Amino acid sequence: RGGFGFLGGPGETQIEADRRMIRDRMAKLRRELEEVKRTRKLHRDRRRRAPWPVIALVGYTNAGKSTLFNRLTNAGVMAEDMLFATLDPTMRQINLPSIDKAILSDTVGFVSDLPTELVAAFRATLEEVTTADLIIHVRDIAHPASDAQRDDVLSILRDLGSIGGENDAIPIIELWNKVDLLDDERRDYLFNLVERTEDRMIISAQTGEGIDAFLDAVSKRIAKDHHRRTVIIDSGNGAALAWLHNKGEVVISSENESTITLEALLSPQNWGQFEKLFKLGTV
Ligand code: GTP
Repeated sequence: RGGFGFLGGPGETQIEADRRMIRDRMAKLRRELEEVKRTRKLHRDRRRRAPWPVIALVGYTNAGKSTLFNRLTNAGVMAEDMLFATLDPTMRQINLPSIDKAILSDTVGFVSDLPTELVAAFRATLEEVTTADLIIHVRDIAHPASDAQRDDVLSILRDLGSIGGENDAIPIIELWNKVDLLDDERRDYLFNLVERTEDRMIISAQTGEGIDAFLDAVSKRIAKDHHRRTVIIDSGNGAALAWLHNKGEVVISSENESTITLEALLSPQNWGQFEKLFKLGTV
């Protein structure tokens, strides 16, 4: 910046003033980044107390993550209601078949050769991914460089420690998006490729094609550790019955005047909570 430092004056040359301004700005950005991390950590801690599964959307820039996010959460419609409910616009609750609640988390779009200065900011938004229960990798399957983009996304996730190492256990579903842009021949080819696999699915976030099947697959994945137990409750215990209905699938197996015997399918966390809340044994 040109300046009048050479005129002398209050003892600070222009270049010094500029440096100070840049230092202040960097300090401010660092503080903001810490704030983002702190907010996200608070959200994570709160979610851990309310044990809902977290699904993280990742993908190359322009892959269609936001379009999918909006379709699944109706974020556009809910935005106003939710304004004060959460500080974090990229996290939303979604309803999945036979799962009480899940949190869907959107991330920034990935790009190749991320400048190192940006990695810290990037890492803050990606910390979500390291604690997710399921990662959805959205891919623009109609893009000519789709395979290279996939490799870039995976290598960034690896670099950031989101997959590989101790996070190897987080399952990933690859979502091949924008199928509406393909000609019939390419479509058939891709549908053949994903047949009989559980970890790749084809959708169009724009038209909605394949979304229901995708949601079923997500539910199944998340419900994998859900298990069935038998509970005997007093007929009058409507609260326990309602709680179970709310959290999972319930099948009543027998009923007499005083008790109800039922089978329910719940996550391990919810079973733990149920026993604590209602002081009832389960087998
Ligand atoms: P970043 O914010 O850069 O990470 O992008 P994103 O992954 O969130 O992509 P976004 O949802 O913004 O979509 C990028 C463009 O692709 C938009 O113009 C969308 O309308 C378009 N798009 C998304 N999904 C589909 C789809 O299934 N079919 C078609 N034809 N276009 C789509």
